[in-house]
Amino acid sequence: MAVKIIVASGKGGAGKSTFSSGLSLALVEKGHSCLVIDCDIGQGCIEYMLSEPDSSLYNWGDAIEERCERDECVYKTKLCDFITAPAKISEKYTEENFREFVSHFDDSYEYIIFDSPAGTGGGFCLAAGCADKGIIISTPDEICAMAASRAADKLIDKGIEDTKLVINRFNRAPVTSGKLLNVDEMIDAVRIQLIGVIPEDKAVTYACTGGFIDMKDCPAKAAYSRIAERILGNKVNLVLNNSKKEKPSNFGTGAKILSVIAALIILFAGIFTADFILCSRLKTPVFARFTEIDETGEAHYSAGLYNCTVYKDNGNICYTSVSIGKTKVASWGVVISD
Ligand SMILES: Nc1ncnc2c1ncn2[C@@H]1O[C@H](COP(=O)(O)OP(=O)(O)O)[C@@H](O)[C@H]1O
Ligand SMILES: [Mg+2]
Repeated sequence: MAVKIIVASGKGGAGKSTFSSGLSLALVEKGHSCLVIDCDIGQGCIEYMLSEPDSSLYNWGDAIEERCERDECVYKTKLCDFITAPAKISEKYTEENFREFVSHFDDSYEYIIFDSPAGTGGGFCLAAGCADKGIIISTPDEICAMAASRAADKLIDKGIEDTKLVINRFNRAPVTSGKLLNVDEMIDAVRIQLIGVIPEDKAVTYACTGGFIDMKDCPAKAAYSRIAERILGNKVNLVLNNSKKEKPSNFGTGAKILSVIAALIILFAGIFTADFILCSRLKTPVFARFTEIDETGEAHYSAGLYNCTVYKDNGNICYTSVSIGKTKVASWGVVISD
């Protein structure tokens, strides 16, 4: 009897179809037979990912409405078998009819993966009505995690207790800088056990038009493979972005206070040791040091790369010319101490 897994997310674009494709190919590569059933009625796309789109394919709606035999709607590619979704909803697509249709394949495959649509209506309910296990996909942001949490609750309400989380499109840099949620925050937000993390990977984007079958080794493919191993009951280490461990997502408050104090010390040290501060069009204070007064009486200062010439006007207002080498970068400034 096939193990049936619903892949859901709540929010569209989280990566359900790409994950369904990647996971099924990983299972097949490990020697397990697998059928993917696209449940996204009206928006199905699995045929684009796993082969060339072919509008002459029968879909599971055709089988339920008896326009074809059940086996006739199965599309066999060189690696993985799939069934496309119907273009329109029909009153015949009840949970009972769909479960009966799926049961026809129970003895032909070890795994049946349902690629469910966004949300928790129509195709999601059909798939959930058949599934034994659930996989919730979420990108590491709060909106997707919130929708994922609702979808997970719905699966658990429907009796699919074995529902696990996949974080998709994980990218170390925005997570480390606190712009996206880290792994712990994702688990807290979705409130189910993690089964894997898939990195952001251009290879997935390019594979979306028929390329999954020929996908070369890449970080995402390795991540699909690790998740397939865990589904098969094997222990595999968690890998983030195929490299180092995750760093804390934020500076702690103590580190922030210390960095502000350090910046203030540098600023005041500059003010008290500089001969003048030039707040020019350079948009930043420049602490300049006196170098010489030339024969015309103009004062020359230097501040790192900058050379400044100060022109005194009536002894009160000072104008400056600032250059780097011979290039003038600002032609005036306000001298606030002398
Ligand atoms: N790990 C990933 N790395 C890069 N792009 C991804 C990844 N997963 C998904 N995508 C991109 O996100 C888009 C939406 O994915 P898809 O699987 O169609 O989402 P869903 O089925 O949840 O609506 C795809 O076109 C794909 O390019
Ligand atoms: Mg999809």
